[in-house]
Amino acid sequence: MSSPQKTALIIGANGYIGGAVARAFARASYLTLGLVRSNSSDPLGDLTAYNIRLVIGAASNVSAAVTSIQSCTRTFDLIVIATEDRSLSHFEGTIELVCALAKLSNGAGIKPLVIFSSGCKDYGPGDLDGASNMKPHTEETSLKAPPSLMPRTLNALKFLEYPDLFDAVITRPTNVHGYSSSYYGLFIDLALAAKEKHTRLMLPGDPRTIMHSVHVDDCAEAYLAIAEHPDRKQVAGEIFNISPGQKYETLNRVASALQKVFQLENGVDCIAQELSPANVLFAWSQWVGSEKIRELTGWKDTRPMFAEDMWRYRREFEKAVRDKDVTLLRLRSRFEGAIKQLVSATEA
Ligand SMILES: NC(=O)c1ccc[n+]([C@@H]2O[C@H](COP(=O)([O-])OP(=O)(O)OC[C@H]3O[C@@H](n4cnc5c(N)ncnc54)[C@H](OP(=O)(O)O)[C@@H]3O)[C@@H](O)[C@H]2O)c1
Repeated sequence: MSSPQKTALIIGANGYIGGAVARAFARASYLTLGLVRSNSSDPLGDLTAYNIRLVIGAASNVSAAVTSIQSCTRTFDLIVIATEDRSLSHFEGTIELVCALAKLSNGAGIKPLVIFSSGCKDYGPGDLDGASNMKPHTEETSLKAPPSLMPRTLNALKFLEYPDLFDAVITRPTNVHGYSSSYYGLFIDLALAAKEKHTRLMLPGDPRTIMHSVHVDDCAEAYLAIAEHPDRKQVAGEIFNISPGQKYETLNRVASALQKVFQLENGVDCIAQELSPANVLFAWSQWVGSEKIRELTGWKDTRPMFAEDMWRYRREFEKAVRDKDVTLLRLRSRFEGAIKQLVSATEA
């Protein structure tokens, strides 16, 4: 007899990581539900094309969200949180929602695995390439997130406090790329602007800055590997970094790839600067180890790193622009001011 279909609920399924995670679980034949805030959350029908069932609701109204969700299912093998809101009220609402869903599921004999998406910036920035005695950040590295991220870093840990209701895992991916390429899409936006305006591309960071982005589909498959581990006890309560197995790229390497792929007639400069909120993408140097998840689950990344196949990432990004990809539009509206500033620095 075949085993019953497993159920995954992805909170923030129309986000960049949430969407990739939802697609990975749908591909793995989970009954996949995506919790989103509005009916217009999947304008291109990408998620529904993957058979991901969208449910409207949010942690800001837990009882309404539970009512919508339980009209689809009362059992959850997996709940993933992939929202981007660092307010305390959002964390508290999300914990309340997850506890309510876990109780429902426990009543039907299934204890969910809950995966909370944090990020490797929880460890703070690391050394530049070439520093002496360099070591990657591991799960044992102390937590030194910048003040703007600290609420996520610390509130994530609170998900580990409900072992009677659900098993929790915290993931700490590096930056992620592919398709609209999230924050890394800004590199391509800036290169396109420099090409169009025949200007020199200025990247505000030391050329030795370590860039260690993982492909978003590899990241999503890491979530699947955690969920599919045959011995739940081995993953419950654990924290896993998710990063490429190859050592890393540098800002200089990314600059060279941009120069080559965009044929920038006036060249590219990496300009070393103090790390600030305005240049995080270019000046945040961090090498992250992910041996723990690799050894425990057998997960490995298979897609090329960002500079390694800039041709592909340029094509995918340009497609995301043409398609008005919701993850691209969200990021652009969030960083409109910063993008304008960077583009005008490139023009100067
Ligand atoms: N992108 C990266 O490179 C990266 C790397 C490592 C870790 N992370 C972390 O991974 C998580 C997800 O990041 P992401 O880049 O995938 O985010 P994203 O693309 O910006 O998506 C954010 C998602 O959160 C939802 N959301 C935002 N505020 C919400 C709220 N108050 N209530 C319910 N839903 C809300 C959004 O829905 P709406 O469409 O309704 O706004 C969207 O689905 C974040 O914690 C982020 O810090 C990201």
